[in-house]
Amino acid sequence: MTSRRSFIQRAGALAGAGVLHGLAGSPALAADADASLPERIRRELLVPPGKNYLNTGSLGPSPRAVLDTVVDAMWTLERDPVSENWGRLGQQMEAVRKKVADFIHADVREVLLTRNTTEGLSLICQVMPLKAGDEIVTTTLEHGGGEVGLEYLVKTRGATLKKVELPLLPESKEEVVSVIERSLTPATKVLMLSHVNTITGLLMPLAEISTITKARGIFLLVDGAQTPGLMPVDVKAIGADAYASSGHKWLLGPKETGFLYVKSGFPGSVPPVFALYGSDAYTQSSGTRNVATIMGLGAAIDWHTSLGIEATANYCLSLRNECYRRLKQVKGVRMLSPENPALSTGIVSFEIPQLKNGEIYARLREQNVIVKVLPQHNGIRISCHVFVSSADIDQFITLLTAIA
Ligand SMILES: Cc1ncc(COP(=O)(O)O)c(C=O)c1O
Repeated sequence: MTSRRSFIQRAGALAGAGVLHGLAGSPALAADADASLPERIRRELLVPPGKNYLNTGSLGPSPRAVLDTVVDAMWTLERDPVSENWGRLGQQMEAVRKKVADFIHADVREVLLTRNTTEGLSLICQVMPLKAGDEIVTTTLEHGGGEVGLEYLVKTRGATLKKVELPLLPESKEEVVSVIERSLTPATKVLMLSHVNTITGLLMPLAEISTITKARGIFLLVDGAQTPGLMPVDVKAIGADAYASSGHKWLLGPKETGFLYVKSGFPGSVPPVFALYGSDAYTQSSGTRNVATIMGLGAAIDWHTSLGIEATANYCLSLRNECYRRLKQVKGVRMLSPENPALSTGIVSFEIPQLKNGEIYARLREQNVIVKVLPQHNGIRISCHVFVSSADIDQFITLLTAIA
């Protein structure tokens, strides 16, 4: 029933995605030849024309190819639920788990499909073999979804939690590494850091930090909520012991999808109860899964792969650089993100101390510009994803200048 529409929409998605691979001359794209890449990608989203969506860091809009995959899978499933769920359709979930593993350069046996980042980090914390007096180190700039598992360890094991103050505007990797290194003590057993910071967009120099944690036998737990889909992720290269993320942010996948990577062999021999019978998408210990959204996660990864994740990362960073430069020129703006591109990604945050961020948010929203309020810092966060154009940034800056 949906198949003809799906075919047309998927063809459109591939046409848009193909641009980065030099397919711009293809007849299928001729009608689009004058449109910019972000414009073409925008047409694959349901966000209506005229809405300037700058909040992928909270929740990303899924391309039609992802939605169609989810809807098609639901139609198929509902025609014969048990046979499909534990048969032909359900078996495809394993292919999605392999796609996730390949996307982050992990072995498939090290990957669990979860509902979101919070769940992934919490699953690991529940089996962390800590005892009273063991120290957990994190920063003052983490998201609550990353902190909750650490708080659980404080409450249930008597571990201590130390939050290091990270500079909001570090100038170099060395400065960041040195702050983290100085915070570690002989009692430190776990270091929990965000790969890309939810408040400042800081790209944490994890490869450098993990050489220190490895040498000291400290477990490096990484909150990757803001990273896959924004830039390449290689869990081995950054030296993560565990890495959790969500499919519904920069990956633009279905809502309530996520994954957890746990380096094989850790922690101890105790797997989370969720994975007692293995890391397959469906096991006796995971219980029944939502096949349709898991299939949609696979489609989201295919979509990003065909676009080229390096190209996406470069585009997002250059758009952020442009946004940063323009923001600095707006009267009264104080930046909350590092300037050095080596520490940056597609996220940029700022505040206007004389104005409440809620007021800035509301006034931008009246004009259909959607940003994220950062309550802790009176800040506003802008997410520059591949569907955001220079013209979108220009519109946002023009309105902000009027507000300021
Ligand atoms: C760094 C970070 N960690 C965790 C989360 C929570 O993500 P989820 O609700 O998908 O678990 C977020 C959400 O914004 C985040 O930015």
